[in-house]
Amino acid sequence: MAIVRSEIIRAAGIIRNGGIVAFPTETVYGLGANALNATAVAKVFQAKQRPEFDPLIVHIHDVDQLPLIAESIPRQARILIRKFWPGPLTIVVPKTKCVPDIVTAGLPNVGIRMPNNPDALALIKESGVPVAAPSANKFGCISPTCAAHVREQLENSVDAILDGGNCSVGVESTIVSFAHEKPLLLRPGGLAIEEIENLIGPLSRPDPESLTDASPGRALRHYAPATPLNIGISPFRKSDLRKGILSFRTVASEKMNEYEAVEVLSESGDLNEAACNLFAAMRRLDLLNLDIIEATEFPSNGLGLAINDRLKRASQPRKI
Ligand code: TXA
Ligand code: MG
Repeated sequence: MAIVRSEIIRAAGIIRNGGIVAFPTETVYGLGANALNATAVAKVFQAKQRPEFDPLIVHIHDVDQLPLIAESIPRQARILIRKFWPGPLTIVVPKTKCVPDIVTAGLPNVGIRMPNNPDALALIKESGVPVAAPSANKFGCISPTCAAHVREQLENSVDAILDGGNCSVGVESTIVSFAHEKPLLLRPGGLAIEEIENLIGPLSRPDPESLTDASPGRALRHYAPATPLNIGISPFRKSDLRKGILSFRTVASEKMNEYEAVEVLSESGDLNEAACNLFAAMRRLDLLNLDIIEATEFPSNGLGLAINDRLKRASQPRKI
């Protein structure tokens, strides 16, 4: 479902004039502002209620825009760009002076990606500037994979919402930092690690808890529903709790009646399909006033790594 040209042009005008626009990408919906305008970017932080220590990814439509925002691109990063852009890969590289500090939360490096979605590319091209965009949700909540998700949380705090239908990938981009000696995986996401490592060799993989200074968005609780989420199936059969389950392929028939609601992410066992369905299923369960959501652990290959990462973050206890 392509967005009509007049809507893209109107939204691009809003971005050029310092406003903020929610738009589809192949991963999740983003909330975009002119990346070169600190005042516009501040509006994104405000709308999301996002702390200013959490940097934003800058989106481009053409590699010609790179020299404006990236001071240098290491050889291995170039290899990935050539192969995977446009696509669900963000690279972190040294920034130029053109990128305001608010975009990178004062870090000397900037995250950059070229989304694989024709509407997103048209919007960035038409606005004539690189577009800084986090996921279009309130800070810490589940990322939106359709325009209705965006409206639920941000309808009154953004200047426009472009509706491009459902996102095809469904989890956020994979982030690889080139700011260290060895390429470092900052976030598993919509591009499988195996594909990256096949090209440039093994990535360093920090623990989820570490490195919050280098990438503050790694804060452990994230992508979270309001309902407590537990990884693993509880061994207790009898329970007064109202439970829902988020499962990969099936739920054993003898366990079915324990649950008020069942979400199976891919009956055929396809991890790409499961990733695509993950956030919408989490949101549906979250609306049912359940006492707990149980989630099965997923295989850790392909997009399973990103799914397990999001479930782990969603399962962290809420800090008060
Ligand atoms: O797929 C995606 O990446 C989506 C779509 C909209 O492009 N965007 C997204 O943005 O997920 P956000 O802001 O929700 O998550 C971006 C993550 C944050 O955790 C942030 O800490 C990290 O990227 N990040 C951004 N810039 C960084 C930088 N300069 N250095 C290290 N980490 C960075
Ligand atoms: Mg986000």
